Amino acid sequence: MKACVRGAAVAVIAAATAAALAACGDGGGNDSGEGNGPRIGVLLPDATTARWETNDRPLLDQQIKELCADCEVEHANAKSDVAIQQAQMDSMIAEGVDAIVLVAVDSRSLRPTVAKADEAGIPVIAYDRLAEGPISGYASFDGEEVGRLQGRALLRAMGDGAADKRIVMMNGDPSDPNAVSFKKGALSELEGKVEISKQYDTRQWRTEVAHMNMSGAISALGADNIDGVYAANDGLAAGSISALKANKVDPLPPITGQDAELGAVQRIVAGEQYMTVYKPFAPEASAGAALAVAAARNESLDRVAEDTVRTSTGSTVPAVLLTPVSVTVETIEDTLVKDGVYTIRQICTPQLDAACARAGLT
Ligand code: GAL
Repeated sequence: MKACVRGAAVAVIAAATAAALAACGDGGGNDSGEGNGPRIGVLLPDATTARWETNDRPLLDQQIKELCADCEVEHANAKSDVAIQQAQMDSMIAEGVDAIVLVAVDSRSLRPTVAKADEAGIPVIAYDRLAEGPISGYASFDGEEVGRLQGRALLRAMGDGAADKRIVMMNGDPSDPNAVSFKKGALSELEGKVEISKQYDTRQWRTEVAHMNMSGAISALGADNIDGVYAANDGLAAGSISALKANKVDPLPPITGQDAELGAVQRIVAGEQYMTVYKPFAPEASAGAALAVAAARNESLDRVAEDTVRTSTGSTVPAVLLTPVSVTVETIEDTLVKDGVYTIRQICTPQLDAACARAGLT
């Protein structure tokens, strides 16, 4: 219905009332004048973590277009600012998009805006992060499993006798429910097996905050007393590594990560980072796109999603929950290269020639 009103408004302006009204039926519409297909808004959280703009955005576009050739996609990136994301979402609601894909900067703060979309009849698909409020569907990974993979890998990397080992934990932003799940999963592996000497939460997942916190940990504990670093994602791993290097720590202790960023994969080859968690981008984007297209067309989401998730409002909504994959130097080829995320050429820059040859990446 909303779509029809918009279609009609365009038609009046274009003085083509009859044709536009005829086109205004079951498929939604838009006021861009470029077509009559459903309009989908994609709200990304930040430019700090590479994946959102580098992987998720183009893949979501591509997958939405594949499922719905006449769909229009509109993006916005909040650059880590809650107020900006609220304003971006408000303006999509005002425009009357047919569905919104949301990666919330801060799940709780976005809740009233999600409720506003719902009141306006616009379904919200929570993408990767479980947004609070009346969402219609969710596409993501098992976050606790991400943490368990990281925790187990760190124990393995530190070797036998981990009981006397001391680690520093660089957790993500606690306003991101995923960060809470990653931490919970990691602690389930690490607690009681190692000494957790220091733990930090990292505001907005910022690399420079991790760098600062790691510098503080080194001064407080002494570099020799850090046997391993749990970093919740690759940005935090990068910040931790730069602080360790600035303090001339050599060799570096094992460090975990997540997101399979190109820089992290290169650090893994170079021996600076022990692992990353790869959450295959294409299946996540394809699930997010399928949910969004079905929602925009007013179709049932149950056909798209096999799982369900309980939302903050207490209701249960269709969800796609995928399985994360641990990647170390031994498995880069069988995972990231095989899936076409990176070619060996992209990973193996001239500076990494020798390391790549040692890793069998040729
Ligand atoms: C999480 C996401 C991770 C990571 C992090 C920082 O919600 O699951 O993949 O990118 O945010 O943006």
